[in-house]
Amino acid sequence: MLVTKTIDQFNIARKNLKGSVGFVPTMGALHKGHLSLIQRAKEENEHVIVSIFVNPTQFLEGEDLDKYPKKEEADMEICKLAGVDVLFVPTTNVMYGSDELKILAPKIKGYILDGFNRPRHFDGMLQIVMKLLNLADPHNAYFGKKDAQQLSLINKMAENYFLRSKIVPCDIVRDYDGLALSSRNVYLSQDEREMALSIPSSLQKASQIIISGKLDAQIIKKSMIDILEKNVSSIEYVEIVNRDFEILDSVELKNTIILVAAKVGTTRLIDNLWI
Ligand code: PAF
Repeated sequence: MLVTKTIDQFNIARKNLKGSVGFVPTMGALHKGHLSLIQRAKEENEHVIVSIFVNPTQFLEGEDLDKYPKKEEADMEICKLAGVDVLFVPTTNVMYGSDELKILAPKIKGYILDGFNRPRHFDGMLQIVMKLLNLADPHNAYFGKKDAQQLSLINKMAENYFLRSKIVPCDIVRDYDGLALSSRNVYLSQDEREMALSIPSSLQKASQIIISGKLDAQIIKKSMIDILEKNVSSIEYVEIVNRDFEILDSVELKNTIILVAAKVGTTRLIDNLWI
């Protein structure tokens, strides 16, 4: 595995990859969710590139940028064992100059839900994803469905900017107890983890209601909130949207995402269910 840190090093490494390339951008602290993206990229491409970069522009003031988990050695080992060809680990100075041109998230879909709670988060996320996609120029780029709004906005950027890479959505990976894997799960104490399990439980409840034939969004959201309220510290949103992130009054089969964002202690967690 070639480890590259500068743009020049990366460009040379990229040029030497002949054949199809799969790309997995990450912020490090790799877990089984990332590994499943890497494995899928390996299955579907001749070469795999992974980037590790904790992107400062997608963190708001007061968020966890400084304490975001870092596991450089372990991450490198995971990538090596997973058969990654090129690892890109730039610093902020490598990725950003001063007085930069910006990519702005769309005014509506970039400012609802996570975008409402984390204004301008998606501007920064799209900016770095655009930079990384331009550098890696992959045939396929892999993103998890857990960050459903992120995925939807990246798809929109790919469409609006005529990007050539195919954006590949990948299923959520859950831990043994059902909690969706996230680098931020390490912040949870044992008690908090128990409480956090109400998030996947609320989604399971939603699924049961839908299977029983009730598709009304208000009914589903109310029973989810009933479960969450007893456990989490605060609910940021429980929402039901279509794949285009338009709010739904009623579940549309094969075109619905049920979303939750909640804080457990000070840790913000998101999860969702694709119907
Ligand atoms: O999902 C993430 O880890 C990040 O938002 C991404 C896509 C790597 C951009 O920094």
